[in-house]
Amino acid sequence: MCGIVGYVGDKLARDVVINGLRRLEYRGYDSAGIAVIAGGRIAGAKRAGKLANLEKALEEDPLPPATTGIGHTRWATHGAPTDENAHPHSGQSGRVAVVHNGIIENFARLRDELEAAGHNLRSETDTEVAAHLLEDAVSGGADLTTAMQQVCRRLEGAFTLVALDGEDPSRVVAARRNSPLVVGLGERENFVGSDVAAFIEHTREALELGQDQVVTITRDDVRVSDFDGRPAEGKRYHVDWDLSAAEKDGFDWFMRKEIFEQPRAVADAMLGRHDEQGRLELDEVRVSDDELREVDKIIIVGCGTAEYAGLVAKYAIEHWTRIPCEVELAHEFRYRDPILTRNTLVVAISQSGETADTLMAIRHARTQRAKVLAICNTNGSTIPRESDAVIYTHAGPEVAVASTKGFLTQLIACYLLGLYLAQVRGMKYGDEIRSIVGELEKMPAHVQRMLDDAESVYELAAELQSVRSVLFLGRHVGFPIALEGALKLKELAYLHAEGFAAGELKHGPIALIEQGLPVFCVVPPRGRDQLHAKMVSAIQEIRARGARTIVLAEEGDDEVTPYSDVRITLPVVPTLLQPLVAAVPLQLFACELATLLGHDVDQPRNLAKSVTVE
Ligand code: G6P
Repeated sequence: MCGIVGYVGDKLARDVVINGLRRLEYRGYDSAGIAVIAGGRIAGAKRAGKLANLEKALEEDPLPPATTGIGHTRWATHGAPTDENAHPHSGQSGRVAVVHNGIIENFARLRDELEAAGHNLRSETDTEVAAHLLEDAVSGGADLTTAMQQVCRRLEGAFTLVALDGEDPSRVVAARRNSPLVVGLGERENFVGSDVAAFIEHTREALELGQDQVVTITRDDVRVSDFDGRPAEGKRYHVDWDLSAAEKDGFDWFMRKEIFEQPRAVADAMLGRHDEQGRLELDEVRVSDDELREVDKIIIVGCGTAEYAGLVAKYAIEHWTRIPCEVELAHEFRYRDPILTRNTLVVAISQSGETADTLMAIRHARTQRAKVLAICNTNGSTIPRESDAVIYTHAGPEVAVASTKGFLTQLIACYLLGLYLAQVRGMKYGDEIRSIVGELEKMPAHVQRMLDDAESVYELAAELQSVRSVLFLGRHVGFPIALEGALKLKELAYLHAEGFAAGELKHGPIALIEQGLPVFCVVPPRGRDQLHAKMVSAIQEIRARGARTIVLAEEGDDEVTPYSDVRITLPVVPTLLQPLVAAVPLQLFACELATLLGHDVDQPRNLAKSVTVE
């Protein structure tokens, strides 16, 4: 949520900052702005709307050449997305420029204080108070680094701040509390960004910052301190993907590209995680086997798509380990006083590793002495940093707001975790685990098969362009897939879409069925006789009431044929693993339908990819 870039070096700051913002635009796209230092003062521009509006403004009225600059793409919290509320913000004299991600919770009190002292605040944002405070401090003689430390000590809430002092073109100063910020380490240039995508075209060397730290970058140096000015160390790391991973590569949307990357992503998520005998090795699990044997309850937390991965995981983990497993939306979990003990394992699923709701949930869990394991796609992000253990999903950068390869690789990580727990606790024999791992190994090829059938899903999307409502039904692990299919349509096509457990139909949702209503039905494999038969009855019931049934069923399942208006064939896979293939056509459908409707698939209205505020 909100993309931030800062640069000092020899290149034209405008180009570095705008290119960085383009790669971060998925974090927020209500408005965008830039500030550079030229001729001893700040020059800048900001515009409501997407980055293109800012670029147009800069073409009409170019910035003076400069080699130090900051930029921002916004997802509005305080104040509507207007030019005035866009970042950067300045203080009274315009000497400093500040961009911000997060929420400064005590801003109202600080604003009153500033106004009482004669300051004139122009925007409705919480950010502007930080700009005024910083400007006061530098006007009083402090350098920008000291000023940032002083101001951060006064701020409450979550924030990443990045600032320029017009009278000191040598440095960009940034600070973070509960909000993401990484440093990019270049040759005769350095960067700060909300994530590494901001500077990946310039360097793959990065520095991870801790909480409550201030970093000062100059062309040749990077210095980190805490808010009291005591020197601190960041953790260096190498980014294992490159610019091409952050580009669309000939696809119309990042989302479509990411859907098609899934066979590779699924394979990468499993890479090196088991030996030739199928014995699992999860080396980033820093919770000891003894502690894992003590676990008597698992609670999975996450938001959006990540929570749906958790719902699938519950079926697999309980089945394989017999440990009771709950799944909960992270924001609901956090504020209901959940029962946690030192034998509770909390599993936090988050693609970005920065979702504030999930972060607050794990912090709460750790204060209650529960163990926390993160399943995450973003190296060095806050959630894995604050967890006892992490399983990285290795999907590569996911740029589209709607999660796809993030989801499939989360499922893989959950399966691996479940099997690992079963192995450690002796709940499964080696050959059983080996056989499931063997099935998992086939998944990249199965996912590829689903992608090879994309055209037929696109044709279906074209046929259904004018529908206003779509339902999704599933049972068992097909239920979370129904929820995910519906979420994708809401997010991208702005359609009324709902997912239901098929068994729940007759308890209410069946009243929604009317002539021609499209209903996607995820049919369990035939191996699960009871489940399969019950799902087939549900399909008959809705079809008898006029529904147009789009049936996802495995190859050779002829029983559903008479009740299928449209048939999407799934490969034959074990029931628990079916979500990995069933999700794919639903992703393709939502992506295509949104494209046909003329929506921005990668940046749906009102959404942000990484929701860093609660
Ligand atoms: C946002 C996104 C969703 C995503 C959710 C969780 O709401 O729009 O697509 O599933 O956050 O994100 P996370 O990064 O924690 O997986």
